[in-house]
Amino acid sequence: MKPTEPAYDAIGDRYEEYASAATLKQAERHSILQMAGDLTGARVLDLACGTGFYTRLFLEKGATSVLGVDLSEEMVRVARRIEADRPIGASYRVGDGEHLGRLGAFDLVTAVWLLNYAESCEQLRAMARGAWENLESGGRFVAFTINPAFDYRTSESDKYGVRIVGESPEDDHVVCHGEFTLDPPVAVDVRRFTTQQYEAALTDAGFSGIEWRAASPSSDDVATHGAAYWADFRENCIGIGIVATR
Ligand SMILES: C[S@@+](CC[C@H](N)C(=O)[O-])C[C@H]1O[C@@H](n2cnc3c(N)ncnc32)[C@H](O)[C@@H]1O
Repeated sequence: MKPTEPAYDAIGDRYEEYASAATLKQAERHSILQMAGDLTGARVLDLACGTGFYTRLFLEKGATSVLGVDLSEEMVRVARRIEADRPIGASYRVGDGEHLGRLGAFDLVTAVWLLNYAESCEQLRAMARGAWENLESGGRFVAFTINPAFDYRTSESDKYGVRIVGESPEDDHVVCHGEFTLDPPVAVDVRRFTTQQYEAALTDAGFSGIEWRAASPSSDDVATHGAAYWADFRENCIGIGIVATR
């Protein structure tokens, strides 16, 4: 059951503030593009599109069409406003990644920070199934989510723009109490599942060729901030990529 008002309705524009400032977002962007591969001519479904950070990026990188879907009306409103201000051809709709249905035929379905909003293994499976149903045969699913191995107690993730301040176990997963390190901070809870739970959800949905991909900064990010800055990111990253094929 979803809360009556999605958490991100209260975040909206502050997410843009985070996305434009956080170094996590820069390294994540590099990692997502590596996982997505050549986007030329691709039809992309961008789940949990938020304010359209990746929706726009995929179009800039050559995708033919990108449909962004997000649970939060406010996030979609901001994404549409950005599209109206700087048209690039992105389409958006409000929708729940857990109850997606078939929206079209896509070569690539992305879910950057979606799976960590599932509140049970059942919801995780439903999200994976929704992605699978929207892919052409041979199409790929690229997700980025909370790293099952992430240890918030030793993490220096504050400096990358996000932190986990505590965790509580809940049913079949762990709730991570997080914050975007803005001034003032923006609180957001995310959920951590195990590697096995992710893989079971994807396999049950019909995916094969499941691969885990560690996030890494680009050479430009390393040149800008120095290798030492990224040491914690490489050793104990809050996020991790998953690639799977229909
Ligand atoms: C951290 S933001 C990520 C936005 C974008 N993918 C990015 O990386 O910039 C997470 C987004 O997931 C959305 N979200 C959470 N649960 C969802 C669900 N069940 N279906 C669709 N979107 C959801 C939130 O509304 C929010 O916009």
